[in-house]
Amino acid sequence: MIKRIPVILDGDPGHDDAIAWVLATASPLLDIKAVTSVCGNQTIQKTTYNAGRIVTLVGLHVPLAMGRVKPLVADAIIAPTVHGSSGLDGPALPEPADKPVDTDAATLMAQILEESDEPVVLIPTGPLTNVAALLLLYPHLKNKIRHIYLMGGGIDFGNWTPAAEFNILVDPEAADIVFQSGVPITMAGLDVTEKALVFPEDFERIRALNNPVATVVAEWLDFFYGFHRSIGYPGAPVHDAVAVAALIKPEIMTMVDMYVAVELTGDYCRGTTVGDKLGVLKKPANARVIMDIDREAFVDLLAEAAAHYGKEA
Ligand code: BDR
Ligand code: CA
Repeated sequence: MIKRIPVILDGDPGHDDAIAWVLATASPLLDIKAVTSVCGNQTIQKTTYNAGRIVTLVGLHVPLAMGRVKPLVADAIIAPTVHGSSGLDGPALPEPADKPVDTDAATLMAQILEESDEPVVLIPTGPLTNVAALLLLYPHLKNKIRHIYLMGGGIDFGNWTPAAEFNILVDPEAADIVFQSGVPITMAGLDVTEKALVFPEDFERIRALNNPVATVVAEWLDFFYGFHRSIGYPGAPVHDAVAVAALIKPEIMTMVDMYVAVELTGDYCRGTTVGDKLGVLKKPANARVIMDIDREAFVDLLAEAAAHYGKEA
């Protein structure tokens, strides 16, 4: 009998968040304790609604809590060009079976940590607003966070500005709090997620599984690839699923320990994750940064997860 790892999924779904949650829910290694929404790809109302639709689709019955309405300090930035006006455009989805709980995301996270006999893994795949709020409001619970597997940043380049990746740019103050927290971090940034490309022929492999979740995943990929195709990509970078894959299948990735700082100011560099690759700052590493991935093994993992939903319970 495998001892499953307790996790909380926090995201701004978002097509790649949704696929990350499909992967997490299918994994026999994970015990998902809660899901929380954050504002990022769309407003908090829309990402919360999408989160409810996704958990209903995959049959995940855990508490869902809505995150804060805006980043800690900055104004919100949303990404309808990438994810559509709903934040999760494309296939029809079931209406949420349950309402979000009355508590906010950071408070639900704190309750789960308090109640857990063992430290819990957080998997944030949106801006780090909720995780930072948790650390600020409940500092005594830091030791109950076993590890943070996050999608965000990029050591070598950005995507929303030349230097900054979307999740970190949306709430750099939150990201700074998280990176400075001392909690072990594995960072799935653009360095790896831009290599986690899922090609149109992979969509067809998933579609051919012909179960209700696999069909939706293929249609999410169709939609998500639409934007990326228009800017010259050969496939869809399923960024957020890399954060989950790093926990359940780290052997398909290359990771490097380094000190990562978050730039909070500057005309060009606000929201940049500055990685001290050469150890110039002589500071201890605060993150394990994923730099590479076996793309085909990653696609196999997604396809196996999608196949899980066609199996008898
Ligand atoms: C990140 O930004 C969002 O649009 C995606 O969901 C992902 O989390 C990639 O930069
Ligand atoms: Ca996301």
